[in-house]
Amino acid sequence: PVLVMDFGAQYAQLIARRVREAQVYSEVVPSTSTADELLAKNPAAIILSGGPSSVYAEGAPGMDSKLVEAGVPILGICYGHQLLAKTLGGVVEPTGVREFGRTDVRTIGEGGVLHAGLPAHQTAWMSHNDSVTEAPAGSVVTASSDGAAVAGFEDVERRFAGVQYHPEVAHSPHGQEVLRRFLHDIAGIRPQWTTSSIVDDQVRRIAEQIGDGRAICGLSGGVDSAVAGALVQRAIGDRLTCVFVDHGLLRAGERTQVERDFVSATGVNLVTVDARERFLDALAGVTDPEEKRKIIGREFIRVFEQAERDLKAQGDYKFLVQGTLYPDVVESGGGEGTANIKSHHNVGGLPDDLQFELVEPLRLLFKDEVRRVGLELGLPATIVGRQPFPGPGLGIRIIGEVNQQSLEILRTADAIAREELTAAGLDQEIWQCPVVLLADVRSVGVQGDGRTYGHPIVLRPVSSEDAMTADWTRLPYEVLERISTRITNEVPEVNRVVLDVTSKPPGTIEWE
Ligand code: XMP
Repeated sequence: PVLVMDFGAQYAQLIARRVREAQVYSEVVPSTSTADELLAKNPAAIILSGGPSSVYAEGAPGMDSKLVEAGVPILGICYGHQLLAKTLGGVVEPTGVREFGRTDVRTIGEGGVLHAGLPAHQTAWMSHNDSVTEAPAGSVVTASSDGAAVAGFEDVERRFAGVQYHPEVAHSPHGQEVLRRFLHDIAGIRPQWTTSSIVDDQVRRIAEQIGDGRAICGLSGGVDSAVAGALVQRAIGDRLTCVFVDHGLLRAGERTQVERDFVSATGVNLVTVDARERFLDALAGVTDPEEKRKIIGREFIRVFEQAERDLKAQGDYKFLVQGTLYPDVVESGGGEGTANIKSHHNVGGLPDDLQFELVEPLRLLFKDEVRRVGLELGLPATIVGRQPFPGPGLGIRIIGEVNQQSLEILRTADAIAREELTAAGLDQEIWQCPVVLLADVRSVGVQGDGRTYGHPIVLRPVSSEDAMTADWTRLPYEVLERISTRITNEVPEVNRVVLDVTSKPPGTIEWE
């Protein structure tokens, strides 16, 4: 793998994703890893990420000089650029000129391998206080900016390079090309990380792990559990059984998507448990968000456990498939071990005492890779392109009591909003668009000749990279108008549609 050493900025995972976009497998490793630990992974190259420290600060994370003697190609980015330069004998100084944001980077000389043939002036994203003022002996300076005399250097012989700017961010338009050149041209790595190779590799690993055993996969209707299930199905065929719990808090068409589209694409064994009544009974009279979540989580576990006992009575199901993704693995310490808190997230919080061995075929993959794998496995775009949807479903999008009637109102309004957003081609632009029913609120309206006293529907379109932060999406007025008109016409209980224009923070994406 290419190892991305994480020096504590938010960029390490992004770098790893970009490396994989260049079809090279990469992993994020903590900057506290020792040289021996890193070399034991037999890295094809090492990338030193950016970070908030100054290389001179007390306790600043460093790098073992053993790494530069090991013959492994190294690329330093931002802080990593300074650290590499310093380790190789260059000079880093606090010049008093800081650069932040879009910066003009000039090619020096021929530009070396990384910058040759690119525009002599290119825009790149910078964020630094200190600068490399003297490149290490044996290397050439390839780029420079007003605030960084050495904005790029390389030593092609020893396969070392550094750039002060952030090639991984979209604000550096040539950044991906620079990364690609480092990986392919300087480090000499062959691009082999392709979707079909991921599928082959995972199918082989799963088959090895499960042997002739049987596995259960809980489907949530979301992308991750569907792709995980499809991969395992590819590996062990009808020794996999998928369990889908219909808790009645699903959106319009979701059950059909699973029962018809997923099954016809994969041929998987599917057990649907209809638990709608049970959930409605348990939620009767409850309005507190936390209480709702607890009830839904608890009921989910009970239903799943029952399904699991029923299955186990028929055969020996030893394995449980989970759709854990790579960012969860990195965030929970990145180790090889399984079973962290988040790994149970996808099936709605399964209890720890379930006696299963976990199968986690997505634990090396980023979300975009999961989607591509899904398409490669023949899953329909309706499943693979799905936006995130919370496990507690519509239950936490009804402010007030969840009952048959409020669910029906919200389901209809939500279907209209989704239909119009899709028709306007906005699905890619929007991270997700919760539609929320304020069942506890009423306002006066007028419709036809009469006064109405109905409920508001809130539209909450957000743009985001990872749901940790989000901005409200500036939807075109015409689309908003169509949604509003249709909802107020087609859902009699609703006489008002309002737009949530709050970023996260301070607002969360969901209302409960
Ligand atoms: P918030 O509302 O915290 O949501 O900004 C962040 C992201 O998480 C989703 N979400 C959930 N997903 N179970 C889930 O599986 C939950 O209980 C849950 N609550 C929020 C939300 O849709 C958004 O994508």
